[in-house]
Amino acid sequence: MTRTKSEKQLKYQSGFGNEFATEADEGALPVGQNSPQRAPLGLYAEQFSGTSFTTPRLLNKRTWTYRIQPSVLHRPFRQIENKLFVSKFDEVVTTPNQLRWNPLPMPEAETDFIGGIVTMAGCGDIFAQTGIAVHIFACNKAMTERFFYNADAEMLVAAESGRLKILTELGVIETEAGEIAVLPRGLKFRVELPDGRARGYICENYGGHFRLPDLGPIGANGLANPRDFETPVAWFEDKDGDFELTAKFGGNLWTTEIKSSPLNVVAWHGNYAPYKYDLRRFNTIGSVSFDHPDPSIYTVLTSPSPEVGVANCDFVIFPDRWLVAENTFRPPWFHRNFMSEFMGLVFGQYDAKEEGFIAGGASLHNQMSAHGPDAEAFEKASNAELKPQKLSGTLAFMFESRYIIRPTKFAMETAELQHGYFEVWQTLPKNFKV
Ligand SMILES: [Fe+2]
Repeated sequence: MTRTKSEKQLKYQSGFGNEFATEADEGALPVGQNSPQRAPLGLYAEQFSGTSFTTPRLLNKRTWTYRIQPSVLHRPFRQIENKLFVSKFDEVVTTPNQLRWNPLPMPEAETDFIGGIVTMAGCGDIFAQTGIAVHIFACNKAMTERFFYNADAEMLVAAESGRLKILTELGVIETEAGEIAVLPRGLKFRVELPDGRARGYICENYGGHFRLPDLGPIGANGLANPRDFETPVAWFEDKDGDFELTAKFGGNLWTTEIKSSPLNVVAWHGNYAPYKYDLRRFNTIGSVSFDHPDPSIYTVLTSPSPEVGVANCDFVIFPDRWLVAENTFRPPWFHRNFMSEFMGLVFGQYDAKEEGFIAGGASLHNQMSAHGPDAEAFEKASNAELKPQKLSGTLAFMFESRYIIRPTKFAMETAELQHGYFEVWQTLPKNFKV
């Protein structure tokens, strides 16, 4: 039997981490309790928890699902090849050198979203629930017969070209360049490609859930506002067939056969759910006098580590904005930081680099590795007339971590690595005059 509820696709509920309640068929949610002796409409009740049961209430995450069949209906998993989707970062010695990559090519063979994931770098340890992995995905085949869940991490997905239609057990998210989607640890989903192909970036977050940063003296509003985060309404497909369920668990890929679509949740309530966010809604805050603030002012989401103020991962963006600071070198200054920075470019031009940092490409500046504007950008910004200037049509981002971000063997050996990257600073002149 095949039945797909489609009329409610692409409807979203507003708010970050809210307690949502949604049903695709009326009467599917039990009232006043989670697990009645018989759940409504012949559905099975299944709890999906994203934190320990005893996590404090403000941080506790769980969702109750009411599904056609429970998740246990699968044959035993067997391990499959990880290919380039890896979680080990000790294959090559980690270099202190600044690194930059051209965009990875689109695949020629048929490749789905999961098969198209290539790990560029990472840090921490899945088994200790610390760190992140940074991947670039490039795909040209819809997942129709294959489903996926990631037990190791939540996944922040930033498309760079081509739209993604992410059909999850808790609803459908469509996302494009300029937006992000966050898929919680364990969520089952498949990805269709409305444009036939897509490429982008993924941050696999092994640590604490992404949350909104505190705003301190900024006040109650600003940066990413909670109401602009969108979580899908309940949607399901009642579809039988010969399907595959691939899982990422303990750093490895596993697969098994299933006989019906696991996207079979007719209703759900809770606060553990996927969401999307349009980065163009980010309320960018900056200097209106002189100098510019540290880039933490551009933090969209943060995954804390146990040490207060020291993130496992900050997701930071550099969007369209006005530059108005007087008597100021306006691009990012030269710096050496405690935090390690993996950057990507979704579109446009990043203001610290005149060329070489290309949409779909990436750069990595690790702990205490010196970097900053290239010689051309320095020269230009040092002599620019400081009238108000609008940076338009640009979106760079950064996954920043307290842990050294270690490039993979693939990243160090790919032809897309720019071996001459260091040259961009070598012509910085000595201007010192007594
Ligand atoms: Fe930096």
